[in-house]
Amino acid sequence: MAKNMKEKMLKTFTEVFGDAEGVKLYFAPGRVNLIGEHTDYNGGHVFPCALTIGTYGAVRKRNDNKLRFYSMNFDKLGVIESSLEDLKPCKEAGWTNYPKGVMWAFGEKGMKVPCGMDFMLNGNIPNGSGLSSSASVEVLTGFVLRDLFGFEVSNQELALIGQFSENQFNGVNCGIMDQFAIAMGKAEHAIFLDTADLSYEYAPVRLAGAKIVIACSNKKRGLGDSKYNERRSECEEALRELQKVMDIKALGDLDEETFEANCNAIADEVRVRRARHAVYENRRTIKAVEALKRNDIELFGKLMNQSHVSLRDDYEVTGIELDTLVEEAWKVDGVIGSRMTGAGFGGCTVSMVKDAAIDNFIEQVGKAYKEKIGYEADFYVVEIGDGPVVL
Ligand code: GLA
Repeated sequence: MAKNMKEKMLKTFTEVFGDAEGVKLYFAPGRVNLIGEHTDYNGGHVFPCALTIGTYGAVRKRNDNKLRFYSMNFDKLGVIESSLEDLKPCKEAGWTNYPKGVMWAFGEKGMKVPCGMDFMLNGNIPNGSGLSSSASVEVLTGFVLRDLFGFEVSNQELALIGQFSENQFNGVNCGIMDQFAIAMGKAEHAIFLDTADLSYEYAPVRLAGAKIVIACSNKKRGLGDSKYNERRSECEEALRELQKVMDIKALGDLDEETFEANCNAIADEVRVRRARHAVYENRRTIKAVEALKRNDIELFGKLMNQSHVSLRDDYEVTGIELDTLVEEAWKVDGVIGSRMTGAGFGGCTVSMVKDAAIDNFIEQVGKAYKEKIGYEADFYVVEIGDGPVVL
């Protein structure tokens, strides 16, 4: 697989940029979040893992300041040209706003990119699926800049720079989860990250006799035009209201009981539900990781299911596509747990499915989805992979 990919990349690079002299190849994964959704900007816990699918890059330095971008996923767009003197976001620049944003962010952090690049990508994460194709491109770009120009930044800093670029350059107020999961990924492990202070722990995900299956709704979503930023402000407002009656830094500081005893400080019923999700989901994440450590996969699955219900009813970020995938999954024998994953409003679900049930799961859920929604869902049995690498 990796060898074929290398050959394919070098061949295309040569076709697009004339030759492949001096080019280096890279890979950064995508991610899936097992539990802990919409908690990362609320000072709570998340439990994501890197995948073995992701973004491949072929990059070489240039002798001028030009940036020439090409994506094998958007081949019809051809080469998109820009320059290091023009690192500004613009609509026409399309996907190149992600690598450009990271180059800009390095400059802002005192690491000016010294020369231009021929920069080609090829991703095998389904686009707009909620498996963080954009964070994957961001971390890949940071990793490439460090490798080519010797900047002294840790993987954790690469994650923070990626998030900074997404917030400041691309206008999405995302939390740290995606970039962190990608930059810090470790095969066969998920990352139990406390977003309040970025302390983290790797937890082995040993699903004896079961696998992680991702179902992609094929309902496209872009975070920028979704209600993501709106949810974030609702939580911030609820926090300000709670802070009038108690001394907390974030919703993630609260347990369920303390929240219930104080939630009447939040003036609006909708904001109560948003905050309730943030508080309960954080607690569920802590409990789920404890369950996994005890090898209590059944409980882990139940907590995944509860997570979905909360995202559907209290946080309202699911929609008919994701609800159909999850509710149909719950009907299938051998499904340990199933929930939407990522920002929501489209994108993917993540399920834990017993090996013997996987074929049936794909058939049954796929059929019901097509009947109800009118188009197909795609299914991927995935593996947990490592962070970014030079190939
Ligand atoms: C997106 C954001 C993350 C996180 C999730 C929801 O993936 O990029 O920071 O907030 O949504 O959990």
